[in-house]
Order: sequence, then structure tokens, then C-alpha cells
Amino acid sequence: MLEYKTEVWPVDKKIAEDENCPQITQASLWIKKNEVIAFPTETVYGLGGNAKSDAAIEKIFLAKGRPSDNPLIVHVASREQLIGMVSSIPERAKKLMDAFWPGPLTLVLPKGEDVSERVTAGLSTVAVRMPDHPVALKLIKECGLPLAAPSANVSGRPSPTTAQHVHEDLKGRIPGILDGGVTGVGVESTVVDCTAETLVILRPGGVTKEQLEVVAGETMMDPGLLNEQAAPKSPGMKYTHYAPDAPLFLVDGSPSFLQELVDKQKGAGLKTGVLTTEENAPFYKADAVIPCGSRGKLESVAHHLYDALRAFNESGVDIIYGEVFPKSGVGAAIMNRLEKSAGGQIIKE
Ligand code: TXA
Ligand code: MG
Repeated sequence: MLEYKTEVWPVDKKIAEDENCPQITQASLWIKKNEVIAFPTETVYGLGGNAKSDAAIEKIFLAKGRPSDNPLIVHVASREQLIGMVSSIPERAKKLMDAFWPGPLTLVLPKGEDVSERVTAGLSTVAVRMPDHPVALKLIKECGLPLAAPSANVSGRPSPTTAQHVHEDLKGRIPGILDGGVTGVGVESTVVDCTAETLVILRPGGVTKEQLEVVAGETMMDPGLLNEQAAPKSPGMKYTHYAPDAPLFLVDGSPSFLQELVDKQKGAGLKTGVLTTEENAPFYKADAVIPCGSRGKLESVAHHLYDALRAFNESGVDIIYGEVFPKSGVGAAIMNRLEKSAGGQIIKE
């Protein structure tokens, strides 16, 4: 399995469209040979391969250790590249593309003829998005292929927001990583199902429900996201995800209640961690107190979330307690990821 040298290719994330970039040329040569490489997007790093090639997609699943019934998102650099990937684009989907592309919105549409069956895991639909990142767009244009790309982490681990995170997870498993620095949004794209009458959010993300409603009218959350009993429509949402090595418990209560929980575990001889914000960090006494953005600015929490979850692994704690956030705006995505990281374990005061 560990058959590659895994080169890291630094690239300026502000690279101009017409600028020559040997690192991107190198990466696109690998893609054209149906190998897979990691690249930055505005949300998280992706692990990209030719969306038309079964062999390339096979390598993505293998490198990540991803269950094969979990379909991938196809990334394009222009709407022309959707030809063959999707079989039709309803009016509402066009409006959403006008409003949010390039950007963190993934649309589920009827599948086209040229997309590998492995990408869609046998579904009749395909998820597509145009990333808002000069390096991603340039790579897709240069290889001239739509790229199927999941997040570039080992399945189950927090998604990567830096090239170092990718390297930690996929070293030896892929030929290279385009290093465009830290990503912006920090959580993945919003996935919406455009095939039903009402727009349905299958995975909350960088584009909020409130923003979608302005463009598409009534928008609902997939019942599978809100209720443990209903099966989620986005296959990926059923798996354990984004988990640090130590168990995480979310705490819906005051900082002093959370500190009491920490003290109890300390008493039992465990090494404790607290996932908090800049505002509350000074309050806690634990082995690792890791602040994740500012409570006053949820975008900053999203930006730092996965790095904070990964940092607990380095601190070697036995148990982590994390604060909760309001579920409005990008808070919906933050809480969706935190609830998954915690495997649904929430302690109420
Ligand atoms: O921001 C992002 O979306 C990142 C970057 C790299 O673009 N990608 C990403 O991919 O998060 P991944 O594979 O980690 O998540 C894809 C999600 C999964 O939950 C999957 O089940 C869902 O999209 N998905 C893909 N195709 C689908 C389809 N046809 N129907 C429903 N859900 C689908
Ligand atoms: Mg992922």
C-alpha cells in the first residue's frame, strides 16, 4: 500500500489563471495517467482523480480506506465540463450555480453517461461542484478532466485543512500534494438535492440554509440529519466521521458545568482535553485546552475546527469535552460535524 514517495508541491494560492506553474503541470500529468493527487479547495483539501476512469476512482477509495457505497463529488472548472457528467440541469439548479459557483455548494443532479459508476456508487444521481480556489480551478483546466474528489483524509478522521494534515494521513499512499496553504471556509461544501420538488440540504456546509432560501425559496434539511431514526439520504452522513483519537463528548451547559466534568475525570487519573473558543479558553483547567475561533464569529470556528480536532491527537488526551454552538448560519455545519465527531454523545446540564 505504501508505494509512493508523496511529494509536496508548494503553490501560491493566488496564482493567476494564465501563469505557468510547473507544480500544477506535474500534478495534472499524474491525473492524466489515472493516478490521484491532493489539492486545495476553498473548503478542505480534496483527493482528486479522473471522474471518467474506474481505475482512478478505485485508487481514491483505496488511499482513503473509504467504504465503496459512499459516492464522490465531481469538481468542474466550467459549466461546459458538466456535459456528460449530468444528464439535465433543472432551472432551479442553474439559479443556484449563478448565485454560488464557484463556491462551497454541491448540487445533486441526474447522472450523465460519462461519469464512472464508481463515483456515484451505483446511484442514478451525481454530486457536482465548482470550487472557488485558483489552484483547484487551474488544475482541473490544465488536465481538462472533471475531477472526482472526496476530502483528502483517511476515512473517519477530521478533514484536512492544510497540506500537512493530508501528509499525516496519506503519506506513501499518493504521488503528491499541491500545497496551497491553509484552506478558507474550513468545513466542507453544502450538499443539496436538486432532483426533488423542494430543495433538500443533505449535508450542511459553507453555504447556509438562509442563503439558499433567498435564491431557491423553500429549503429543508434532510430529516435524516435531524432525527436519529430516519436514514440520511446522503450516504456519507451515516458513517463515523471527523473523529479525534480520544472520545469527544459535547456539553450543552455552562463552562463551570463542563469544568466539573473535567475535574471528575482528572480525579479518576485521566488526561483531559477541552474544545472551546477564544472567549472561554481562559476559564478552563485541563491538560489540553484548545480554542477554536471566536464564539462571536462562527466563520472563524468553522475555519479552525478540523485543525483543533487534530491537535487533540498530538496532546495525547484520554477524553475530550467540547462546547456546543448555535445551529444558525454556518453553525449548522459546525454542529453537524461536532455531533458526528462525538458519535452523538451530548451531555446536558
Ligand atoms: O467541500 C467539499 O465538498 C469537499 C472538497 C474536497 O470539495 N469534498 C468532500 O467530499 O467533502 P466527501 O467525499 O468527503 O463528501 C461528499 C459527500 C458525502 O456525504 C456523500 O455521501 C455525498 O457528498 N454525495 C456524493 N454524491 C452523492 C449523491 N449522488 N447523492 C447524495 N449524496 C451524495
Ligand atoms: Mg469527507
